[in-house]
Amino acid sequence: MEAINLFVPVFRVEETLQQIRECLEKGWTGLGFKTMEFEEAWKNHSGLPFAHFVNSATAGLHLAVKLLKEEGRWENGDEIITTPLTFVSTNHVILYEGLRPVFADVDEFLCLDPASVEERVSARTRAVMFVGMGGNTGRLEEVRELCRKRGLKLILDAAHMAGTRYLGHHIGSEADVTVFSFQAVKNLPTADSGMVCFTDKKLADEVIRWTWLGIDKDTFSRTLGQGAYKWYYDVVHEGFKYHGNSIMAAMGLVALKYLDQDNAYRRQIAAWYDDHLKGEPKIKTVPVRAGCESSRHLYQVLVENRDEVMLALNDEKIYPGVHYRDNTLYKMYAHGNMTCPRAAQASEQLISLPMHLRLSYLDVKRVSNTIREIVRRK
Ligand SMILES: Cc1ncc(COP(=O)(O)O)c(C=O)c1O
Repeated sequence: MEAINLFVPVFRVEETLQQIRECLEKGWTGLGFKTMEFEEAWKNHSGLPFAHFVNSATAGLHLAVKLLKEEGRWENGDEIITTPLTFVSTNHVILYEGLRPVFADVDEFLCLDPASVEERVSARTRAVMFVGMGGNTGRLEEVRELCRKRGLKLILDAAHMAGTRYLGHHIGSEADVTVFSFQAVKNLPTADSGMVCFTDKKLADEVIRWTWLGIDKDTFSRTLGQGAYKWYYDVVHEGFKYHGNSIMAAMGLVALKYLDQDNAYRRQIAAWYDDHLKGEPKIKTVPVRAGCESSRHLYQVLVENRDEVMLALNDEKIYPGVHYRDNTLYKMYAHGNMTCPRAAQASEQLISLPMHLRLSYLDVKRVSNTIREIVRRK
């Protein structure tokens, strides 16, 4: 019996090596021609007007918060409403900037529930951080409307959403800033990288400097290739070493070419799971919002006795995952504990079933039949 793992990224090896070879032969692996090519390709694919390639979504999210804070003159201790059901990056970046994460509850899509967000708005709320769980938009539209009415900024953590469309358009234009992850096991895998996409041109221009230690790259690119005077760039403020590199961009360019095809197969896998799991009252599947064509980075179900079910699946050589534990269970976010009952319950019950491009129909059937048998025994 072969093991079935949660994620196995698929790389088009020869094509990717060809892209990387171009970097190696040119003698240029850092920030430069490939990163720019990937940014252009991403803008073409997503229809978003601005995109800057960074070394992780965490870095992109940090700068999203930082630049909005500076632009809005937010003060330390001001609040961002966020979800407890996420990878900790989402919430750490709020703390990086001296702001306070205020947790709101999730809905049946495992995304922020607009009604809960509304309840948590205070005089100090400045923004909402929305996570598109597993590629699902959830009620992003309603949250966007709420932000508009209340004068709040909207940050979209789209780490799972490369290729997700809503009502036909690629997501991203809804938010003031959208951040994608191209980390090793995401649905657009590189090794580590991401894309930060502001809606506002001024911030989109500024973020470029922030990813490279405040160096004014316009000056840099003017002198680039001219040999002399390269060192006469200006440094206008401090910044971070957050920019992406050409090797990651080379990987990303190939993955992007196949993204829609890959996501379509992910949706096929999800449909097979839906089909095999339907009618089993002990397994609750997570719906996708109507109008959302999800990237299907994840396929999540909720079961009682989750930990036991996981161990029993492992006995059958099936290795699923959990996305995520309620962040308020962690010491550093304990101030939000007991404030989001739905997220707390999901955190106890969630399983992410194997979801990757090497799964066949028979693999999906095996996982589905196995988990059905296990929950019936419990
Ligand atoms: C919801 C979410 N946000 C942010 C991140 C951070 O992405 P990266 O690893 O590219 O920094 C992840 C990655 O796992 C994620 O799942």
